[in-house]
Amino acid sequence: MTRTIVVHSHRGGTGKSSVLANLALLLAAGGHRVGAVDTDLQSPTLDLLFGLPPGAGSLADYLLGRCEIETAARRTGVPGLYLVPARTGTAALRELMTTGYDVGLLPEGFDRLARHHALDVLLLDTHAGLNNESVTAMGSADVVLIMARADRIDLSGVEETIALVGRLACRRVLVLSMAPEGIDREDVRRRAEDVYGAPLAGVLPYVPEMAALYGERIFVDAHPGHPLVGEFRAILSALDARDEVSRA
Ligand SMILES: Nc1ncnc2c1ncn2[C@@H]1O[C@H](COP(=O)(O)OP(=O)(O)O)[C@@H](O)[C@H]1O
Ligand SMILES: [Mg+2]
Repeated sequence: MTRTIVVHSHRGGTGKSSVLANLALLLAAGGHRVGAVDTDLQSPTLDLLFGLPPGAGSLADYLLGRCEIETAARRTGVPGLYLVPARTGTAALRELMTTGYDVGLLPEGFDRLARHHALDVLLLDTHAGLNNESVTAMGSADVVLIMARADRIDLSGVEETIALVGRLACRRVLVLSMAPEGIDREDVRRRAEDVYGAPLAGVLPYVPEMAALYGERIFVDAHPGHPLVGEFRAILSALDARDEVSRA
């Protein structure tokens, strides 16, 4: 059975795509069959992060009826890791905005992809906030990984997301990103559980080495021994855990 993990945040630039790319590499290195879909049609990222060569086939093409989702899934150069890029240019976006698309194609595409590649894990990247793609992705999720900075606006967005996710049959975990130095983890953990009913899966500090990569390499590949990689592994363990807090 494929486990579907959605990475979401209220605002952009929170580190969703970076975390997703790193988790994808760690999972694939652990021998899992992994699919990643960039549902961020507005600001695609994963094709650049994975250095995908330009070519035909993307989520946008699939939504416009121009290709099958199986054709849109590309090899990444990492064994066992497939990627569906969001789009290959702006033309498809304009078309999608003008004509719209059948949102039912998204869950159908995720299912077909999972079956076609016999995926163990399907990772769905999202655009920030609540929109057709992010809400539909969350509707397909087994777990939603909600990312937020320690910031009032980000955290108010978490409440909104949790109010939505609470109606869906999926678990949720919280990851704090760009955490200020010296943050009290226990306090954050307690608050995450008490206020959001979500276990804290990780606290990611701002890491200058990550910013210095300019998105040209994926962090775990460039800095395999860095403590941040330990934090990414802790997130994977929390995603595996069958906790009760998230079902409250
Ligand atoms: N822990 C981190 N420390 C420093 N920079 C980070 C960290 N996580 C992500 N970044 C940088 O922040 C920017 C936005 O990250 P990204 O993953 O694209 O966010 P999102 O997908 O939520 O919009 C990128 O330039 C990325 O390299
Ligand atoms: Mg992103």
